[in-house]
Amino acid sequence: MERDIPHTEVEGLAKSSTSPSPRLDPSRADFAQAVLAGFAQKPRSLPCRFFYDARGSALFEEITQLQEYYPTRVETALLEAHGAEIAERMGDARVLVEFGSGSSRKTSLLLSALAHVTLYVPIDVAGESLAEAAEWLSERHDGLAIRPLVADFTKTRTLPVAARRPRKLGFFSGSTIGNLTQAEARDFLANAARLLGRDAAFLVGVDLKKDPGILISAYNDRRGVTAAFNLNLLERINRELDGDIDVERFAHDAIYDEARGRIEMHLVSLARQTVRVLGRSFSFAKGERIHTENSHKYSVSEFQALAANAGWSPAHSWTDADRLFSLHLLRT
Ligand code: SAH
Ligand code: AVI
Repeated sequence: MERDIPHTEVEGLAKSSTSPSPRLDPSRADFAQAVLAGFAQKPRSLPCRFFYDARGSALFEEITQLQEYYPTRVETALLEAHGAEIAERMGDARVLVEFGSGSSRKTSLLLSALAHVTLYVPIDVAGESLAEAAEWLSERHDGLAIRPLVADFTKTRTLPVAARRPRKLGFFSGSTIGNLTQAEARDFLANAARLLGRDAAFLVGVDLKKDPGILISAYNDRRGVTAAFNLNLLERINRELDGDIDVERFAHDAIYDEARGRIEMHLVSLARQTVRVLGRSFSFAKGERIHTENSHKYSVSEFQALAANAGWSPAHSWTDADRLFSLHLLRT
């Protein structure tokens, strides 16, 4: 069968009227705006979608192989064990839209079970990994058309023309939904319901609440890969935004906030210091923190309530025997 050549569409990642400099390309302007705003406020924070430049995406793939980081392993095993049942319950629509698709490795498993899908639309901010994943997938799924979309999935309001068909399937794996606050997750799910349309089926991977010790280890691995992933945000600032940050003067920290049911990742300033980014100076006290990521954990019923609140009907869920991770099938 002929192979469809994936061509990538890029949706505006920043409005030029609000960019700090007209010389910056849209994705760099988006990053610049977020860093300047995030460093100007107290407490300081940076949005976690900026982890995923080429180096950050590679480090995330390394995290997925770590013994302590169970989510990828367990979600993959759930897809392997229940693929046929999941596919039967998802139905025979021909378009699959994936949010935060990354390397698309789990998608390949799902596509092998979803025999009716002829068009795959992966949406991700990481343009390079999107292109690589599309190439990798097209070599394995003959006849599958792939229309990658480089976009922020919280702001995606339209799909490529080829995907504007009445019935669609959605996939949101890895518990990336946990990186959104509950209000953001609700808005995301409501927007996904609009994008996927009537009679849609949406498969969402969600990390479960569990013994905090397991969670703390998963985000503080012994080899320091998660630390490198977190610190890469500062290296990315140096590379792309003319920063002069001494990365060795910051440390990775990941804590579990039991009341909020979330892991929080921070970068902690190890000294009193001033850094420069795009010609502006920012002073940090010793011990001052930059909040870089939330990773919310849900019980099965908590996630079902969140989805229902956003207009979805929870249809089925699957969990592993150790109740580490869950897959939810939602319907519009
Ligand atoms: N789904 C894959 C990848 C998870 S890593 C898996 O389960 O292994 C999270 C992915 O979401 C990354 O590829 C990252 O680039 C992407 N991402 C994070 N925030 C995003 C956003 N706001 N919009 C689009 N993509 C985003
Ligand atoms: C992509 N996301 C769901 C991962 C998580 O577990 O929150 C990102 C990550 N952060 C640290 N390790 C992995």
